[in-house]
This record gives sequence, structure tokens and C-alpha cells, in this order.
Amino acid sequence: MSGAREQFGSRIGFILAAAGSAVGIGNLVGFPVGAAKNGGGAFLLMYAIFVAAICLPVMMAEMSVGRYAKKDPLGAYAKLTDNAPQWKLAGWLSIITPFMIAVFYLVITVWIFGYLFEAVTGNLELLANPDTFGTFINSPTLFIYMAVVLGIVYLILQGGVKQGIEKAAKLLMPALFVMLVLLVIFVLTQDNAMAGVSFYLVPDFSKINASVINGALSQAFFSLSLGMGIMITYGSYIDQQSDVPQSAKLVALTDTAVAFTAGLMILPAIFSFNPNTNPAELSESSIGMIFTFLPKIFLALQTSIGFFGASLVASIFFLLVFFAAITSLVSIFEVPVAALMDEKDYSRPRALVILGILLVVFSVFCALSFGFVTFFTEFTSYAGAPKSFFDIVYDVFYDTILPLNGLLICLFVSYRWKRHNLHKALETGSPNYKGSWFERYVDISVGTFIPLILALIFINTV
Ligand code: PHE
Repeated sequence: MSGAREQFGSRIGFILAAAGSAVGIGNLVGFPVGAAKNGGGAFLLMYAIFVAAICLPVMMAEMSVGRYAKKDPLGAYAKLTDNAPQWKLAGWLSIITPFMIAVFYLVITVWIFGYLFEAVTGNLELLANPDTFGTFINSPTLFIYMAVVLGIVYLILQGGVKQGIEKAAKLLMPALFVMLVLLVIFVLTQDNAMAGVSFYLVPDFSKINASVINGALSQAFFSLSLGMGIMITYGSYIDQQSDVPQSAKLVALTDTAVAFTAGLMILPAIFSFNPNTNPAELSESSIGMIFTFLPKIFLALQTSIGFFGASLVASIFFLLVFFAAITSLVSIFEVPVAALMDEKDYSRPRALVILGILLVVFSVFCALSFGFVTFFTEFTSYAGAPKSFFDIVYDVFYDTILPLNGLLICLFVSYRWKRHNLHKALETGSPNYKGSWFERYVDISVGTFIPLILALIFINTV
């Protein structure tokens, strides 16, 4: 796009926008259940170590590449390598990946919006009915909700970086924190809540095995929005004087704090609803938890706090998840939008409309993957089971390509852009980082064991 590159208006705006990207459905539901099932405090400890020791340096690398190149990921790889074809491929991967993840994330956000609508209108009985979810995801109403969600994303993104993304983050993120804290206070004052807290937090190191370790690291990587080109793109909207290591630390800390706090909401809620909960019942996926398990709790609340109270709690919960999902969706969709603007000189509205249409087409395929249309429901089969279009997008992009993209950025900053350039870029604007032990740690790890670990995860899932 001609003219000066858009920028975030303030440091806090950038941090909230990046944290808005990071805080998503994964934090609010995926993390708490994963932690509770897989060793409680032991999982937490391991997760925190992964965030600090592996994910944080990758986030810093992504942000500094963006800030240095002042380009979308495709443009950044091309610019810093004089158009080397193999690195352009990495660039392509880091804009196709976010687009495809946006496809399935949009579908889930649409479901959340639908449930929010039903909660606000007091239809808790409907939501708690075990058949509702299956019917709901195959109902034509979904497409109306999809139009609304896309309209919201469009409105935010067409405002641009400062007036759109930053403004939305400054509004939605504080609201999200307040709602989360309110729900935690409410849940912790319910009977038997402490049983949930101890189930969540008491460490059980015997649960930690290779697959739990792999899962924790993948979860941390996804939760921090890494490997999707997002931090490169957002990094391209900050100036050279901003402190990347410090900002990245705050984003990682916020993301982890929200995930941790969400556990203090979800698990006590489960235990106070059913004091005899046994861990096996928590085999729910995030999706099952949000759309079938928790609605039962909301309905049961009616007996203690009445119809109005229960509807209010349910509405706050779905609004919380919706806000978290919207800021993530905005960030991920901004990546291909930025690429079209940077690489093809498209105006923002034009890029948004073209990509929006593509997004709708693919998302409709996904939405039709649950029985609506057999072609999409049984798109192909592998690993001994029929796989839908939705499954494929999820398995390929979420499970496999993310660690690959992480691996590529590490190799890129270490061996192509070169370590001393990363080093210099990270020091720029960050007096506290310069000369610290953390700097030495990042310097050593980004080109050695971090990519090695990401390569292992990648090979493992392939
Ligand atoms: N960090 C997000 C989450 O935890 C993941 C995500 C980011 C998904 C951006 C889509 C887009 O849910």
C-alpha cells in the first residue's frame, strides 16, 4: 500500500492486540481441562517452562523479523533473503496457514455466537439438551450467524491497525479480564468448589509422559499464536524503538495468566455441579466442554440462583469466549490481508472483500462437514477413519504445519538472516535485554535446541 505503513498507536495497544490474538478458546477451555487431566500442578509447571524457554524466544524472533522488515510474512521472507525461492516458500506457508486456521476458527466462533444468542435470550434448556449441538451445527441459521460474525470482523479490520485492531483490543481485552474475574469469584463461592481447585492444582508427576509433554508444548505454541505469521505481521506495525523482548514477555505472561485463571473457573464449576466428578468424565474435548458439558451446568444453576441469574452467568461465559475468539480471529485474518496489501498494493477494503469471499467459501465447506453434505463430511479417510473437510484442515494446519512454521522461523533467523542480526534487532529499543542472561539464552537456543524440539514435534505428528 502506498503511503506510510500503519502503526499501533501505543505500546499498550500493541501488547493488548498481541495478547488478544494469543488469548483464545485454547486458553479458556482447552488449557484448564488439559491441565486437570494431565497432572495438575505438574502440567502447569511444565507448561510454564515451555512458554518461557521455547515459545517466548520464537515469539521474539517473529516480532523482530516483522519489525525489521516492515512487511507481511511473505514480504518479510522475500525482502530479507533477496527473494530466495526456498524462503519464499516459507513465506507462502506463513500466509496460507493463518488463512486455513481462520477457516476453522471462524466456524467455531460462529457456534459460540449462536450459543451466546441462545443464552442471552434465556434458552438454557435448549442448550443443555444433549441433541442440541448436533442439530445446531447443521442448521441453516448458522449461516446467518456467520454473516454477523464476519460483519464484526470486517468492521474491526477495515478500521485498520490503530482505529480497528488496536481499538477493538483496548475495548475487548479489559472487558474479557473483568468477565473472567467475575466468573471466577462466582464459581469459587459455590459449594464444593475447592475440590475442583485441588483437582486442578495438586501436582501428579506420574501423569507426565511423552505424549503429555508433546501435547503441552503444542498447546503452548498454539496458545501464543506462533507459527501463523501473526506476530510477524503485528511486529511490522511497531516502530524500531519499541521493546520487543519486554512486549513479548508481557504477551506470554498475560496469555498464561488467563489460561491459569480460566482453570479456576472451569474445574470448580464442574466439581460444584457434580461433587462426585471423576477424572474420566473429563474426557471432553474443548468443543464438547463448551457446547455440551457446560450448558448442563448453566441449566442446573437455575435451581440455586434462578432463571435470570443462570442466564446471566451463561451469557457472561459465552460473551467471554466470544470476545476471546473475535480478537484471535481478527489477528489471524489480518495476516493474509496484510499480504495482499503489501504484495499486491491492494487497498485494505479491497483485500478484505476478496479474502472475505474466499474465507466464506472455505468456511461453508467446513460448516457443511458435520453431516450436512456427505461430500464434505466424508471428504477422505486416513488413520483408519473417515475424515471430514473440517478434520483435514484441523489436522494438517493446526497439528502439523504450526510446528513446521516455528521451525522455519528459527532456522531463518539463525542461519539465513544470521544470529547477529537477530541479536541486534532484539537489542534495539531494549536496554534491559542487552547484556542480560536471557539474551545469552535466546542467542544460544534459537538456532539449536528450540528448532530441534520443534522438528521432533513435526516429525512425530507426520
Ligand atoms: N491463541 C489462540 C487460542 O488460544 C489461537 C489462535 C490465534 C487461533 C489466532 C486462531 C487465531 O485460541
